[in-house]
Amino acid sequence: MLIDTHAHIYSEDYSDDIDQVIERAYQCNVRKIVLPNIDSSSLKSMLDLSTAYPQICFPLIGLHPTSVNEDYRDELQLVDFWLTKRKFFGIGEIGIDLYWDKTFLNEQIIVFRHQLQLAKKYELPVVIHVRDSFEQVFEILLSELDRTLTGVFHSFSGSPEQAKQVIGIGFKIGVNGIVTFKNSGLGSIIQEISPEHLLIETDSPYLTPVPFRGKRNESSYLIYVARKIAELHNTTVDEIARITTENAEKLFGI
Ligand code: NI
Repeated sequence: MLIDTHAHIYSEDYSDDIDQVIERAYQCNVRKIVLPNIDSSSLKSMLDLSTAYPQICFPLIGLHPTSVNEDYRDELQLVDFWLTKRKFFGIGEIGIDLYWDKTFLNEQIIVFRHQLQLAKKYELPVVIHVRDSFEQVFEILLSELDRTLTGVFHSFSGSPEQAKQVIGIGFKIGVNGIVTFKNSGLGSIIQEISPEHLLIETDSPYLTPVPFRGKRNESSYLIYVARKIAELHNTTVDEIARITTENAEKLFGI
């Protein structure tokens, strides 16, 4: 059994065939799928899918850094509100993104810090998005760290030193299709990280692993990520599946 710890399969890319996408995932032993939220516009479709597949789909609540703009207070209020209304399995995805746009950096910092505090209040794990922003994210995270705060650096593509920092505070490293890309350089880094620190994810619809790179991603392709990690660690897919599934179940309480 595998767990896709990061998939936006509630998005419009799947509106024609979502039931087949879930069915294919299930046939490929991907038995649980964690759904990170983006913003108020993605919430309804994410919750609808979670309601349709309560044993398979596990929703998170959060405001994505690329959705932070002048309306951030309204968006954050919605996150606050929903946390009082129903069960979520984590706060995500949250973080800082300086690749697409730096205009709202100060707002991104406020929003990230607020959501880390929500995670502590509700004792939920955080799913962190980093893009050209590791130093900023890590500094804020350290300042909010307490005994309860835990989570994952999703779609990790940092340096070996950054991986050590993440592991050092007890956070997990989320690995996806990037590890199957020849020139990513991620393989040699993941090779040095014990699987007990890893989660696997697809980040669907993005970052489709080889041999489907370039096509729409989906949770059933998670096996290609697991296989690559097994190859890098010179072990079996079953072993990687067992360890990463246990990691995911423990982190998200699923
Ligand atoms: Ni995402």
